[in-house]
Amino acid sequence: MKQTRYIIFSISLCIFNNLQAVDYATEIQPIFSSNCTMCHGGTNGLFLDSYTNVMAGNSNNGPVIIAGDAGNSILVQKISGTANFGDRMPSNSPTYFDSHQDELQLIKDWINEGALEEETADIGKEDFLPERLILNPIYPNPFNPSATISWEQPRAENIHISIFNLKGELANEFSFTKSQPGFNSFSWHPENLPAGIYLIQLTGETFTITQKAIYLK
Ligand code: HEC
Repeated sequence: MKQTRYIIFSISLCIFNNLQAVDYATEIQPIFSSNCTMCHGGTNGLFLDSYTNVMAGNSNNGPVIIAGDAGNSILVQKISGTANFGDRMPSNSPTYFDSHQDELQLIKDWINEGALEEETADIGKEDFLPERLILNPIYPNPFNPSATISWEQPRAENIHISIFNLKGELANEFSFTKSQPGFNSFSWHPENLPAGIYLIQLTGETFTITQKAIYLK
């Protein structure tokens, strides 16, 4: 098999356990309500007064939240001071998140966990472990610039993700050492790969499962 690109990352910290899932209504909206809605709750522009409005964005610069991808979410860039336009938010107190790093991290975690409204997908999972490895639907799909690959596993085990193009050539590869039981997720950013269909293969110690994802440019 021809291997056009062969990269191994050993990532163990990049794993989110469902026990730490962030809840939008009780943990995220209060941050926006205290610091943002006095400006972002009016009659036009970006509203940060409800989950639906935050996700809709109504922004001049594209959506402000990309589920699964805090780094590329404009909202995170605006509160971190890394956006390439306008002022750092909240504009009436631009260093707010320097002194509230915990809140900044909560927002990033919430987005990286999929920017869900409720932990619905996780309810009961603390008690529920699958009998075997489950690969959840790749999200979003088709995708750009990154896709969230998430899975559930019955026990701590080494997980390997191999990503192939339709010719069967290995395009990317990732290893997770002693991935923890329950829900885990990983954000795939294909770099220097052409648009097209990719096969995402998740391999545990006893089970392999593959899904198709479409990368658009
Ligand atoms: C004092 C008023 C004010 C407050 C408070 C404020 N903003 Fe803003 N915000 C603005 C203005 C004005 C703009 C447009 C100019 C700019 O981008 O700097 C803006 C722009 C933005 C944008 C970019 C919107 C786009 O069109 O892409 C984001 C995202 C944003 N704010 C998030 C926040 C968040 C999150 C908070 C709270 C932590 C916040 N803002 C607090 C006034 C405010």
